[in-house]
Amino acid sequence: MRLTNCHNFHDFRRLAKRRLPGPIFNYIDGGADDETTMRANATAFDQCDLLPSVLRGVSDVDMSVTVMGQKLDLPVYCSPTALQRLFHHQGERAVAAAAANHGTMFGVSSLGTVSLEEMRKAHQTPQCYQFYFHRDRGLNRAMMQRAKEAGVEVMMLTVDSITGGNRERDKRTGFSIPFRLTLGGMMQFAMKPMWGINYVTHERFRLPQLEDHVNMGSGASSIGGYFTDMLDPSMTWDDVAAMVAEWDGQFCLKGIMTVEDARRAAEIGCTGIVLSNHGGRQLDGSRTPFDQLAEIVDAVGDRIDVMMDSGIQRGTHVLKALSLGAKAVGIGRGYLYALAAAGQPGVERALDLLRDEIERDMKLMGVTRIRDLGRHNLRFRPDVQPLAMRMAAE
Ligand code: FNR
Ligand code: LAC
Repeated sequence: MRLTNCHNFHDFRRLAKRRLPGPIFNYIDGGADDETTMRANATAFDQCDLLPSVLRGVSDVDMSVTVMGQKLDLPVYCSPTALQRLFHHQGERAVAAAAANHGTMFGVSSLGTVSLEEMRKAHQTPQCYQFYFHRDRGLNRAMMQRAKEAGVEVMMLTVDSITGGNRERDKRTGFSIPFRLTLGGMMQFAMKPMWGINYVTHERFRLPQLEDHVNMGSGASSIGGYFTDMLDPSMTWDDVAAMVAEWDGQFCLKGIMTVEDARRAAEIGCTGIVLSNHGGRQLDGSRTPFDQLAEIVDAVGDRIDVMMDSGIQRGTHVLKALSLGAKAVGIGRGYLYALAAAGQPGVERALDLLRDEIERDMKLMGVTRIRDLGRHNLRFRPDVQPLAMRMAAE
């Protein structure tokens, strides 16, 4: 299977599976516990239907949006993800370059394998820096300082990862940094020698956001271990309020799921929130962001930019989220499989396909600007209509 044969998310996933050693593929592909939430994320969009309008003159479609003060050519951004160097030797460089070529925002994770400074210098489009709240307050301050000096536009604090999710696939393979593979995991690496050759013949694996503070080289530091040992489970709203004030710019919380928390985020001065269940990788059994979207937009949408991620695979998913009031949506696996499949050309193609789908779907919906999308464009099946919309209709 070749890149030109990849026409959607599922094709990229298949190609990624073919290229990556099992432990790495499963780290990307897996979720927490029984992966119920991960599955629900993708199907949530199927519970409502788009209502197209016709004969509206749709020759010129403008897909741009402004979110958190940033103008994006597309209503989709690349959500920050960890360890991209493991998925392809071009890692974050490929993702950021492809996002920039599509005029959209890319995220750099605090577990990123390229420095936030290098990425900020390399591209013009907005960059968000994703960080966690560490026990070491000095590290938190140092990270914000670095991001400020580098010119990062948007700070994104992930708040749904106060402890590591239960990723049972990773337990089975022994996925950790550095590798502490189980016998089964080792055999899976041996089956993908091309990945190994690529890995050792390119720049060495690094975690430049953390390397002055964490010795990831000694002992097996699993992703779960990083969350459990390094992050501060005592973090409260007061701690975050102090960070927001210190940053004094665009600041969003990633992983908000309730109206009450959304209100608090607005009260402490956040300029955005991302409804997210971390792609189903943290609390299994949690509701999907799409199902919570209407309620939260109604509560805080006039004060703060509401975004969402988790489960976006199609242009129509994007249009459904925007119709409910999201200002933009993030993708994770949607570009990671493409990165693993083919590096930068893979991510470029994944974003091309998504852009083409959005444009085509907008034309088919009879809209030429994102702001023309609204709840009138959607109908939920009666049994699944969100409470906020049911009440408005009564
Ligand atoms: C993630 N995600 C994530 N989020 C974050 O805040 N910091 C991080 O370092 C990572 N790392 C990470 C690695 C991998 C392999 C995945 C799949 C995800 C979560 C990510 O930003 C986003 O919230 C989800 O991926 C969205 O769900 P979908 O699009 O993957 O369904
Ligand atoms: C993950 C982390 C790193 O989802 O956020 O694996």
